Amino acid sequence: MKKREFLKKSALLASSTAIMPSVLLSCKDEKKVTAVPQKRLRTAHIGVGNMGGEDLRDISSHAKVDVTALCDVDANNLAAAKKLHPNAKTYTDYRVMLKEIGDEIDAVIVSTPDHTHAPASMMAMNMSKPVYCQKPLTHYVSEARAMKKLAEEKGLVTQMGIQVHSFYDYKLATLLIQSGIIGKVHTVHAWSPKNWGYDGPVPEGEDPVPETLDWNLWLGTSAERPYKEGVYHPGNWRKLVDYGCGTLGDMGVHIFDTPYNALNLDVPRTIKNECREPNGFGFPEKNIVTYEFPGTEHTAETLKWIWYDGPGAPEMHEDLKLPNTADNTSDKDSSKNKENESVEDKISLDAKIAGQGELPEQGAMFVGEKGRLLLPHFMQLPQKIVDGQYVDISTEIAEVEKANNMGKPIRDYASEGPKHYHQFVDACLGEGETSAPFSYASRLTETILLGVIAGRFPNKTLHWDSANAKFLEEEANVFLEGNYRDF
Ligand SMILES: NC(=O)c1ccc[n+]([C@@H]2O[C@H](COP(=O)([O-])OP(=O)(O)OC[C@H]3O[C@@H](n4cnc5c(N)ncnc54)[C@H](O)[C@@H]3O)[C@@H](O)[C@H]2O)c1
Repeated sequence: MKKREFLKKSALLASSTAIMPSVLLSCKDEKKVTAVPQKRLRTAHIGVGNMGGEDLRDISSHAKVDVTALCDVDANNLAAAKKLHPNAKTYTDYRVMLKEIGDEIDAVIVSTPDHTHAPASMMAMNMSKPVYCQKPLTHYVSEARAMKKLAEEKGLVTQMGIQVHSFYDYKLATLLIQSGIIGKVHTVHAWSPKNWGYDGPVPEGEDPVPETLDWNLWLGTSAERPYKEGVYHPGNWRKLVDYGCGTLGDMGVHIFDTPYNALNLDVPRTIKNECREPNGFGFPEKNIVTYEFPGTEHTAETLKWIWYDGPGAPEMHEDLKLPNTADNTSDKDSSKNKENESVEDKISLDAKIAGQGELPEQGAMFVGEKGRLLLPHFMQLPQKIVDGQYVDISTEIAEVEKANNMGKPIRDYASEGPKHYHQFVDACLGEGETSAPFSYASRLTETILLGVIAGRFPNKTLHWDSANAKFLEEEANVFLEGNYRDF
C-alpha cells in the first residue's frame, strides 16, 4: 500500500475516537492556538525497550505525568515497563491501543525503530495527540514532510528526541557562532567513527521467531522478511536500509543539530556520498557526505558541509589540524582499527584526546572568516583557533552567558537529560514551548535522509529541488518514499 493510503486509513481509524479538547488546543510553531491548561498529562508509550525505556523514565519523572498505556512488540520489554508502571494498560499493537483508549490519553511517545516512527506518529497526530518522537524523525523524506504538515495543521505540540539540544555547551556554541565569533562560516566538518553500517551479505535462512516477539508487528509497514536472530531486533536494524538510517541517522542527527541550528540552515542544494556501491540490504560502513547549502545570515554565500563516519573517521583535512599536533587523526585511526582494543586503551585514548586538545572522537568544526570553532560531542567547551593557535574566548563566553541568562555550565547528563522531555510535557500542559518541534526536526531529518539516499549513488552529486521535493536526478526520487505493507 502506498504511504498516502496508509496515512488516510490511520486517519479514518483515528477519527472514530473521542479527542480531548484541551490537548487539541495545545500549540506550537507557526499556527498559534491558545492552550487550555490541563492539570495532568496522560501518556501512551510506543516502544519501551532500550531508548524507549529511557524515554519512559524521563517523561514519567515529570510530576504531572500519568503513564496510562504501554505498547511493545517484545513481551519481555513490555513486562519490564509494566513492572515500573503497574497501573498502565499494555498492548502489542499501537493501532489497537490508540483506537481502544484514544480518549484516555493526552500525548504519545514514539520510541520504536525508525521505520515505525511515521506510521505510529501520524496515527497519533491524526487523533490530535501531541507527539514526542525519537530521532531521526522519519525513515523517508516524504514522511518528514507529512509529519511537519500535519503537526502544523493541527497546531500540535511536538518534540524530536534530541535531548542534548539545549545542553550548555551546545547552546553556548550556537550563541557564539551567531554573535559572529569566527565571522561568516563557509565550511562545517562533522564526524563520528561509529559504524552503523553493514557491508556483509544478506543472511541466509531463517530462525524461529521467539515466542515473546510479534515479528509481523515489528516489521509493521515494511516488507515481509524471515526472522534472523541478532540481525534486526533489537538495535541492529539501524544498519539496514529497510529499517534504519545508518550512522548518519544515529549519531549524525545529534552532531548535525548544533551547527545546523546555529547557522539557521534550510535543506541542502547538492549532496554527494563517497562510499561503497549499494547492496540493497546494509548501509555502507564508511561514508563521507558533502553537502552544499544555500547561505544564511550566519554563513558565506554558500556553505559546504562534510560528514565523515565509520572506522577511522574523520579523514585528515587541513581544517581539522589542531595547534601543536602534526596529524590529529593518526593515533585515533590506528586505534580504531584495532579489533581487540581494550576498554583501558580506549579510555586512555579518549582522555588523551580530551586532555591534550587533540581532535575529539566525535564532533564538529566550524570554519569561518575569522578562524575556526571546534565543538566536541559532547559536554565540553567549544574552542576557538586562529592562525594555528588556540585563542582565549573567556570574555566572549562570559558576555554570551550574561546576555542570555545561561547560568554556569552544567555537565551532568542525569540532571540535564530529562529537561528536553519535561519541556514537552510542560508545553502539552500549556506552559512554554518545545525546542525541537517537528517544524525544525523535519528539515534536519530531511538533510540527514538526503545524505543517506546519496549513498545509493556513490560519488555522484545529486541536486535537490526543495520547492518540489524531488531530485533533478530522476533515478533518486524512488527512494524518497516507500511502499507501506498492509500488516
Ligand atoms: N536520542 C537518543 O539519544 C537515542 C539513543 C538511542 C536510540 N534512539 C532512537 O530510539 C529509537 C529506538 O532505538 P533503540 O536503540 O531503543 O532500538 P531497540 O531495537 O533496542 O528498541 C526498540 C524497542 O521498540 C520495540 N518495538 C519495535 N517495533 C515496535 C512496534 N511496531 N510497536 C511497539 N514497539 C516496537 C522493540 O521491541 C524494542 O522494545 C530509534 O529511533 C533510535 O534512533 C535515540
